[in-house]
Amino acid sequence: MLGCLISFLTPKATPLSFSQNVLFACAPIRSTISHFPHSNPIWVSSHSGQSLRLCRIRMGKVAVGAAVVCAAAVCAAAALVVRHRMISSGKWARAVAILKEFEDKCGTPIVKLRQVADAMDVEMHAGLASEGGSKLNMLISFVDNLPTGDEEGLFYALDLGGTNFRVLRVHLGGKDKGVIGQEFEEVSIPPHLMTGSSDALFDFIAAALAKFVGSESEGFHPPPGRQRELGFTFSFPVRQTSIASGTLIKWTKGFNIEDAVGEDVVAELTKSLEKIGLDMRVAALVNDTIGTLAGGRFYNQDVIAAVILGTGTNAAYVERAHAIPKWHGLIPKSGDMVINMEWGNFRSSHLPLTEYDQALDAESLNPGEQIFEKLISGMYLGEIVRRALLKMAEEADFFGDTVPPKLKVPFILRDRPTLFLLQQIENKCECDQTAVLLKSASFFQRAHSSSIISKFQLSSEPLPLFFPYVLFSLPLLQSSFSLSLFLFLSNALTQDEERKAAVTPDMSAMHHDTSSDLRVVGYKLKDILEISNTSLKMRKIVVELCDIVATRGARLAAAGILGILKKIGRDTVKVGEKQKSVIALDGGLFEHYTKFRVCLESTLKELLGVEAAETIVIEHANDGSGIGAALLVASNSQYLGVEES
Ligand code: BGC
Repeated sequence: MLGCLISFLTPKATPLSFSQNVLFACAPIRSTISHFPHSNPIWVSSHSGQSLRLCRIRMGKVAVGAAVVCAAAVCAAAALVVRHRMISSGKWARAVAILKEFEDKCGTPIVKLRQVADAMDVEMHAGLASEGGSKLNMLISFVDNLPTGDEEGLFYALDLGGTNFRVLRVHLGGKDKGVIGQEFEEVSIPPHLMTGSSDALFDFIAAALAKFVGSESEGFHPPPGRQRELGFTFSFPVRQTSIASGTLIKWTKGFNIEDAVGEDVVAELTKSLEKIGLDMRVAALVNDTIGTLAGGRFYNQDVIAAVILGTGTNAAYVERAHAIPKWHGLIPKSGDMVINMEWGNFRSSHLPLTEYDQALDAESLNPGEQIFEKLISGMYLGEIVRRALLKMAEEADFFGDTVPPKLKVPFILRDRPTLFLLQQIENKCECDQTAVLLKSASFFQRAHSSSIISKFQLSSEPLPLFFPYVLFSLPLLQSSFSLSLFLFLSNALTQDEERKAAVTPDMSAMHHDTSSDLRVVGYKLKDILEISNTSLKMRKIVVELCDIVATRGARLAAAGILGILKKIGRDTVKVGEKQKSVIALDGGLFEHYTKFRVCLESTLKELLGVEAAETIVIEHANDGSGIGAALLVASNSQYLGVEES
């Protein structure tokens, strides 16, 4: 382009004096200009005075031209830089505008939260009034007696509700002894079983149960003539027909096994147990919220409700039986009935829904369902962040000219249990070392699923993460490839949240990044989304997004809790009443996502006001649902009151 400019300017006549001055003034620039082919004739024609003059005139002209060219070039370059800056600052402004708009739409001022709580209260009444009277199912649990602490015996529990299930053996010691012992094993559910057939899922579970029972020592065998008794914690919406039976209303949390819907899940499990000859009786079918409530009550008689904040979300509470119009059975002796609200399905015009939430819902396995859950729970928080980031990438070139392909993968920012890790390894390995690496990973998987690791999980001691990999990797460490796998495996799991396969570990890790350069955010963007070279400015925006999404979820959960307290009249302090109301909380989101938990607790206080807040206690019911199921088996045992022979 500059060459063209020169040839266009050179032939024009210019006054000598001016051109001489210019020539002189432009001397340093001349050498630069002479590099261009068009400038060569000027210098070769200077062989006489005339021609020298001509030459000088020509030189003057050229110099002027050159100067103009230089100026033009500088201007053009400057214009380009300015344009580039304007475009990128325009794009940056667009990204910031997207963020701002998102933040506004996610807003949860106290007034709105109160409206949400009121709407929850109204829907609770409607759901209790009649079957199908509300989006809130308000399911009757058939639990009218919560544990007293006197329960004793050896019971089993099966906890199914997410990508893993657990098999537990709980030894209850009766009065003052509490839980004497507890062993469990955790097993990952292969993804294809989450959307396959009912038989395949229950056969798989029955096999794991048989293996667990098969490996126990004689001391645990039931006395002759007695069956092992099992509490089945099934964390999906079930319409119970008794304490030990109930039909599945629908699946949630990524499960979709059509032929199980409408079936009695206890009958399905029993069928699979019989197929393999395992003599076990399901004595109680409970939702995880009910198990958590029962487990919480075992330790603290002031527990009146339980909330799960994990992959999914839900709440249960103790209702007065006569306040349940749809209950046509006898009023229990206790006068109480525990209700499984299935609050994940709550919806209200007061919920702050954004375009991202609507799109997420429309593309989900259960469109129009579980709207509250899709705003709050661990399965969805990371996905909302991903969608907002994708919009920034598409509309504001947030990550450069091209949209990072991984950012288009749905749910890439959700919980990453072992299976996801395995998939990642599979994707990363291309050579025949894959087999060795997968072996190493499956060793990890087995270790992670075993009670050894589970016991570590129970304590707050850090896991000796390196040891299984060291065992497997020693001969491999000579190659840099296996070294990088070694680092990858250990790296991928050193975060506390990841260690426990908690929900939204990636989002939580980014949100909690306190390093000055937000290096965890940088690492996560690179590791999961394959986006490198992110600036600090960009990382800050990512943290902002996490904050907006987590804050909205936590504040809405607090509003939900206020709704329950309103329904049972515990949101205000009556004169002369000092009774404490304890809410048992459990789930990976609550347990491991500190900012979420802190925000929930402070919002609830804010909503209740100082005086009422003093009477409400949020208690972490660690792992209550499994123990709770065992406790409910104890109170529904067929051998209750029967002496052991
Ligand atoms: C299910 C509930 C369950 C909750 C927490 C929801 O998706 O519908 O039954 O209690 O997740 O696990």
